Amino acid sequence: MATEPLIIAGNLTIHSGVTSLVKQVSFTLGRERVALVGESGSGKSLTARSLMGLLAPGLHLQARQLQLAGRDALTLNEKRWNQLRGSELAMVMQDPKYALNPTRTIGWQVEEPLRLHQRLSRAERREKVTEMLAAVGLPQPTQLMTRYPHQLSGGMGQRVMLAIALIADPQFLIADEPTSALDHAMRDRVLALIHRLVEERNMGLLLISHDLQQVSEHCERVMVMYKGQLLDTLPAAELSRATHPYTRTLWSCRPGKATHGQMLPVLDRSALERELKHD
Ligand SMILES: Nc1ncnc2c1ncn2[C@@H]1O[C@H](COP(=O)(O)OP(=O)(O)OP(=O)(O)O)[C@@H](O)[C@H]1O
Ligand SMILES: [Mg+2]
Repeated sequence: MATEPLIIAGNLTIHSGVTSLVKQVSFTLGRERVALVGESGSGKSLTARSLMGLLAPGLHLQARQLQLAGRDALTLNEKRWNQLRGSELAMVMQDPKYALNPTRTIGWQVEEPLRLHQRLSRAERREKVTEMLAAVGLPQPTQLMTRYPHQLSGGMGQRVMLAIALIADPQFLIADEPTSALDHAMRDRVLALIHRLVEERNMGLLLISHDLQQVSEHCERVMVMYKGQLLDTLPAAELSRATHPYTRTLWSCRPGKATHGQMLPVLDRSALERELKHD
């Protein structure tokens, strides 16, 4: 990796009771754009949420090492997690309908990370909110600030989520299927926007996606999960000539432009399991 690591996970395991849902996963992420792919239920979201200290109650994390922005995450208390979230690492979720607070205005919600993480005057905060809303391509920020989430379209909601995630200048963005609730045209635009902002701000990105075409266009590296394990890591440019059988299957099943955005076809699992055994 060309840059210093921002996230180091060593043998990350997530349990629910005696079941391990994520199994001994290790990776290092810097100021680069990395995709996390794999079929539904493979453990992508759990892995991402564990990097934000946001695992649901009942889930337990174990790791040999978990370093986030230079801090040892295994010893962080809730107060330190709160400092880290938003200021160093931020996350955008799949659906703004559920992630935004329906009872607060857009202005209040975009401003909140600044109230939590930075010492600025009210006027300075307002100015930053206005700039950030413009940076994510939302017109008429002053009007928008007084609106509520239900008054926004999906694409606007996701731009607001992005504004909330980026306003306190985090070093790393985790985006968990940030465009899957959007229509096709809007997907490309929001992803291109994320790509551009991450580059301009010299941040790292972990993009969770089902869309390998999108991944190959916007990411530099790809990590592939299957049943809670990290099976393969490769440069995105090598996806078309991947050597791992599972990665090859995912790539060959990717939706083309015509079927873009539809569900992945079902994989030939028995053939895959046979191949994996030969590995
Ligand atoms: N709170 C929980 N308690 C118990 N099991 C859970 C919990 N959350 C997730 N799981 C299970 O852990 C596994 C991994 O879930 P995860 O949400 O990480 O999958 P994913 O790869 O993000 O899938 P998708 O692509 O559908 O979003 C799944 O089998 C899921 O049912
Ligand atoms: Mg998920």
